[in-house]
Amino acid sequence: MSARGSLDFADLQGNILRGYGKQYVRHLVLTVANPAAARRWLADASSGDESATPQITTAEPWTERRRTCVNIGITHPGLAALGVSPSSLNSFPHEFVAGMAARNVLLGDTGPSDPSKWKEEWRGEGPHLMISVYADDAADREATAARILAARGAFQLRAALEGEGFAGGLVHFGYRDSISQPQFYGVHDPDDRRDDQPFVEVGAMLLGHATPIENLRWEVPQPNVLGHNGSFNAFRVLEQQVAGFEEFLTACADALMNNPLSETLLPPGAEAGWDPPMDRRAALREMVAAKMLGRWRNGVPLALSPTSPSPQPRIDDAGLNNYGYAHDPDGQRCPIGSHMRRSNPRDAKTVQRNTNHARRLVRRGIPYGPHYDPANPVKAERGLLGSFMCASLTGQFEAIQYDWTNLGLQDPRITGSNDPILGNNDPLFSRFSFPVGDNAITFRGFSHFIHTRGGAYLFQPSMSAIRHLASLSGGKTARTR
Ligand code: HEM
Repeated sequence: MSARGSLDFADLQGNILRGYGKQYVRHLVLTVANPAAARRWLADASSGDESATPQITTAEPWTERRRTCVNIGITHPGLAALGVSPSSLNSFPHEFVAGMAARNVLLGDTGPSDPSKWKEEWRGEGPHLMISVYADDAADREATAARILAARGAFQLRAALEGEGFAGGLVHFGYRDSISQPQFYGVHDPDDRRDDQPFVEVGAMLLGHATPIENLRWEVPQPNVLGHNGSFNAFRVLEQQVAGFEEFLTACADALMNNPLSETLLPPGAEAGWDPPMDRRAALREMVAAKMLGRWRNGVPLALSPTSPSPQPRIDDAGLNNYGYAHDPDGQRCPIGSHMRRSNPRDAKTVQRNTNHARRLVRRGIPYGPHYDPANPVKAERGLLGSFMCASLTGQFEAIQYDWTNLGLQDPRITGSNDPILGNNDPLFSRFSFPVGDNAITFRGFSHFIHTRGGAYLFQPSMSAIRHLASLSGGKTARTR
């Protein structure tokens, strides 16, 4: 089946190529308690009979909005627990076999993010599978999760992770998220484009299909029925140090107030014309936040509006993703080292040009923990439950997270510096630099604002693969922790 030909949407899990836009998520982090019972649940959940158990949601177009959706991802030990044979287990990519915790140095999960400090549910062999429930309201989420957990001794619950969307699509740190996502040939309508970004071959997400790199197909784990149409998910529990982040912005704004370059950065008085108007110090704080990400906190890209979060004429939602960096080669508008430009260099010149449109990720993230109110700061754990989906964890997710986020290998001008938002920054070495005319502003001495608290590499099988798994025998029961 070609990526541009007809895709079998009924065979695909529904959360990969399109999002559901649900407000509430619960990720059930599970171990297989009884392989036969777990396989029975997989059979029931892919049977089409909603009365047996909540059904795994496919990518088939909806005739009416679904109130809840369910999807699954399975770890390598989880596949073994379900009875997958050793030769089949060995046909999976090495990084998936090793698991996320074992890849920690590559991912920058050291210091406070070291796997030895992860939450209990991710330690040791880690979970076997994650069943994710997406819902429009909390009661539906509760009811669906309870029905799944009632599955006759199939699973042992290690943790239930709850995420809840904030108004306006904001995440902790106050940025608007979920604006840019890849659009796929054969899935999205090229005549009804959301933006001008190049369409992507589905093989960037699904195994067994043509990828954005000519003649490259990621190897399909065997048997084909198990691997084909599957996808990988780097699931990460990312704790955000919101107070530290806000303090950093304040310190940067204070420094800029005494730096004559700030007059070139933000022409004096421009902030009075913003909507809402701001005083100079507050505006410089927002400018630093925008330079670190690549968008103003309200989602307006620096590439289109470098000195105001409220440009006139207004940029509508579709316009928020209509831009590249080719006309901003030095990063005068959007810094080369900003989170977004590092994670997706779009049409910018990079060291390996063929990777620009190939290292694409589908991002499905939702905040967890209470909103941070600086006027009434409550100490609590808060962050992002992030799913980063792709067809190759090492060729896409790890390459972005390591080569681009933590090393800056895509452009010699940022090599050796980390992503200012996401990177594993150490006050001894950290620096974030961006040009202002012929000069540059550099901030140093900051630590990392995001700590990994857990995570796993998950395989997201197709519906045929789920039925195949349900038909196996053998497998291992859960080890007690
Ligand atoms: C708590 C952690 C994170 C936060 C708060 C965060 C925040 C954001 C925000 C606000 C955006 C812009 C919204 C949009 O364009 O949709 C964005 C874009 C993006 N982020 Fe992150 N992010 C986080 C972690 C990650 C990780 C772990 C990766 C991958 C390794 C990643 C990769 C990307 C990519 C690929 C984009 C889109 C860039 C584009 O298409 O131009 N992010 N992120």
